[in-house]
Amino acid sequence: MNIKSRLTHAIMPPPVAVRHAEYSMLLSADDEPMRPTERLLDVALSAVQHARKVDVSSLAARVPTGINYAEVWPGEHYKLLAGLVKALKAKSVVEIGTATGLSALTLLLELPAGGKVTTFDVVRWPNYVDGTVLNERDFSDGRLVQVIDDLQQPSVVERHRELLENADFIFIDAAKDGVMEQRFIDNLKPLRFKNSPIVMFDDIRVWNMLAIWRHLDRPKLDLTSFGHWSGTGLVDWAPAR
Ligand SMILES: C[S@@+](CC[C@H](N)C(=O)[O-])C[C@H]1O[C@@H](n2cnc3c(N)ncnc32)[C@H](O)[C@@H]1O
Repeated sequence: MNIKSRLTHAIMPPPVAVRHAEYSMLLSADDEPMRPTERLLDVALSAVQHARKVDVSSLAARVPTGINYAEVWPGEHYKLLAGLVKALKAKSVVEIGTATGLSALTLLLELPAGGKVTTFDVVRWPNYVDGTVLNERDFSDGRLVQVIDDLQQPSVVERHRELLENADFIFIDAAKDGVMEQRFIDNLKPLRFKNSPIVMFDDIRVWNMLAIWRHLDRPKLDLTSFGHWSGTGLVDWAPAR
């Protein structure tokens, strides 16, 4: 926890004792013009139905100690991620923010034959500070690829334009520092997507993400109750603008 968070927690402590608490604010919905499309509602409902049944038990062995977050659903986003891949029949999945690799492995669970998950990070997976659940074999058949690059830079987005424009599903889960995710959004806007991707944002209810999510001018849906407790947002990036 950084100094700002420590201070806020000291001044305004959480009303209940929990493992992890974050500050947020409730925002009215009637003055939010960006309503979900019918397609977005259909995809979300279908993904939730798949999430109820998805088997993530194969991931347990990767998380030998501590909480197996993949099994915590609703509450964590892992089963929903697999459900979305299935609902969308997503062949090209792009993730921004590999970290331990747990979400990348989950994205592979329902990936159809010939599909690929490309996960971006600025840290190569074996060097991730909190450890990794990945191993070399995960990359051996080409279904999972990690790219070390920073999509905050428009020139980097240009380098990966073809991959991004052909994505079916994009999962954005990086720093949530109040700046980075906005840059990703700005950089996605000029792209000419071929497959009307669904874009999922993590942590949309965390303070730093509130304004970014609110200002996102695309059809969108807050799916937090079936995703991550800190906020899960789905965006329909279909309409060409
Ligand atoms: C919250 S973690 C991702 C968690 C993971 N997706 C999951 O659900 O298990 C955030 C990750 O974003 C990475 N990151 C930070 N800045 C980034 C950037 N500009 N591009 C890509 N990844 C970035 C961090 O290195 C970290 O691994």
